[in-house]
Amino acid sequence: MKGNKGRPARGCGYALPLPIAVLVCSAFFFLGYYISLSNNQEIVVENDVDRIHRQQLLENGETVQAAHGVTGDDLINVIPFQVLSWKPRALLFPGFANKQQCETIIKLAKTKLTPSGLALRKGETADATKDVRTSSGTFLSASHDKTGTLAWVEERMAKATMIPRAHGEAFNVLRYELGQKYNSHYDVFNPEEYGPQKSQRMASFLLYLSDVEEGGETMFPFENYQNMNMGYDYKQCIGLRVKPKQGDALLFYSMFPNGTFDAAALHGSCPVVAGEKWVATKWIRDSVER
Ligand SMILES: *[C@@H]1O[C@H](CO)[C@@H](O)[C@H](O)[C@H]1NC(C)=O
Repeated sequence: MKGNKGRPARGCGYALPLPIAVLVCSAFFFLGYYISLSNNQEIVVENDVDRIHRQQLLENGETVQAAHGVTGDDLINVIPFQVLSWKPRALLFPGFANKQQCETIIKLAKTKLTPSGLALRKGETADATKDVRTSSGTFLSASHDKTGTLAWVEERMAKATMIPRAHGEAFNVLRYELGQKYNSHYDVFNPEEYGPQKSQRMASFLLYLSDVEEGGETMFPFENYQNMNMGYDYKQCIGLRVKPKQGDALLFYSMFPNGTFDAAALHGSCPVVAGEKWVATKWIRDSVER
């Protein structure tokens, strides 16, 4: 721009002394340039290329990284899931663990099985409730597993739920033989029935360690708040039923995000009709206090 000394500059339309006009014009020019840079077409395209490339790498099973914080992961984990229900909040993770990992956990548990126990309500006796839960089981902690399998499962589960590992109880590995079952129940401990609690089982994670030929489904009789007014006997196998499949994992929440109990989280294990059912359960607490 060639200005005439002493005459008003016309660049911005108004009569301004030339140096000021140049300053104002260039200020707007650079502001415009800066704005166009921040929404720049080229940068968006570059991101798209990046994303497509990353997708291709992932599909080829190659290693991909994203910028991450100090406590984050180096890699992108692929954990497929299906929302089974919002009432209660339940997710299936198909192929969460592989066959060998499942068999390792069964082997660890096999030598230590004892009849499964039950948390008793005030006034209940072990003898009167012995038919409620007929499986055998054992508690296994990851720190006692030299193969590292349980630690691997815990780690992956913490990632899938974003609830730190320390909130989990030890694994309760269960075996259900022919006809064995677990009547429908809640995992939360209502203080009115069980007395004051330091923390609650807010979510439950089940890793199916075996296929079951027939029966043995995990059932949610009150799914979508159905069947709640029919005088349900806690034994009948109704509602949403999840068929155990070796390596699949099921996660459901017994509490709403606001901390109150979800009545739809009632669940049980249907009787095994043919075959045998092995499952590793982990209860996730709302605090590290027990
Ligand atoms: C907690 O959340 C549930 C589900 O959204 C809702 O039905 C219930 O009224 C809430 N309770 C309180 C005390 O906020």
